[in-house]
Amino acid sequence: MNDTPLGGIRIEGLRKVYGHGDTAVEALRHVNMQVAPGEVVGLVGPSGSGKSTLLKCLGAIIEPTSGRMTLGNEVIYDNGWKVKDLRALRRDRIGFVFQAPYLIPFLDVTDNVALLPMLAGLSNANARKRALELLTALDVQHRASAETSQLSGGEQQRVSIARALANKPPVILADEPTAPLDSERALGVMRILNQMARRAHTAIIVVTHDEKIIPTFKRIYHIRDGQTVEEAGEGLALDDHGNDTPS
Ligand SMILES: Nc1ncnc2c1ncn2[C@@H]1O[C@H](COP(=O)(O)OP(=O)(O)OP(=O)(O)O)[C@@H](O)[C@H]1O
Ligand SMILES: [Mg+2]
Repeated sequence: MNDTPLGGIRIEGLRKVYGHGDTAVEALRHVNMQVAPGEVVGLVGPSGSGKSTLLKCLGAIIEPTSGRMTLGNEVIYDNGWKVKDLRALRRDRIGFVFQAPYLIPFLDVTDNVALLPMLAGLSNANARKRALELLTALDVQHRASAETSQLSGGEQQRVSIARALANKPPVILADEPTAPLDSERALGVMRILNQMARRAHTAIIVVTHDEKIIPTFKRIYHIRDGQTVEEAGEGLALDDHGNDTPS
């Protein structure tokens, strides 16, 4: 079998059963998925089909029941965790974007983004410098010293994306990141995720029900009955740097 390229994700035969005995729920039956560095894939499926479960397994938030998951060249799960420090894995190698931004209200915008790099050992000054660079890339630098509650929904979501990118993780997992946004902002977020994927060679999985953004994916995994089926999509017209290409 081929190596997963650096930073890529491979999931093979993943199974997750919640609970035991009569009340057991088989949320994932046999999931296969592969995402290359620089790629943004969609994950869609009806409510209760196992999308969040899959992201939580991949993000080492819950433990799968069986199967195999690889990040880059490292097998992280093979019928049991193969990584000793799951906290470090979550902190340094996986960025999460949720439907709600979950910003910390008593920190300003910059510190919300700088917190994770600080926890990973970067000096306060360097962490804030990196935070400001990301806020600039996401076009919210003008709100850098604001309180998070003063930001619009779209601005808050961009800050939460900056936070997910702060430790330069090879993987970003986004669960319904555009749900609270209007069409224009939702497409803006997808454009940013695509740009970040290309520029930082990040592998990104986006769970979504959002019809507005489905055409932005080149590849979509449909999840049904605990299994995934792959489909090609339109994709955004971007060059290698993630800039818009004239159509
Ligand atoms: N902690 C849990 N304990 C038991 N069952 C669970 C748990 N979490 C999820 N489930 C069940 O696993 C199945 C998949 O749930 P999951 O949250 O992954 O679905 P989803 O595709 O994210 O749905 P939605 O679109 O509504 O967010 C559902 O049947 C759900 O009830
Ligand atoms: Mg869900």
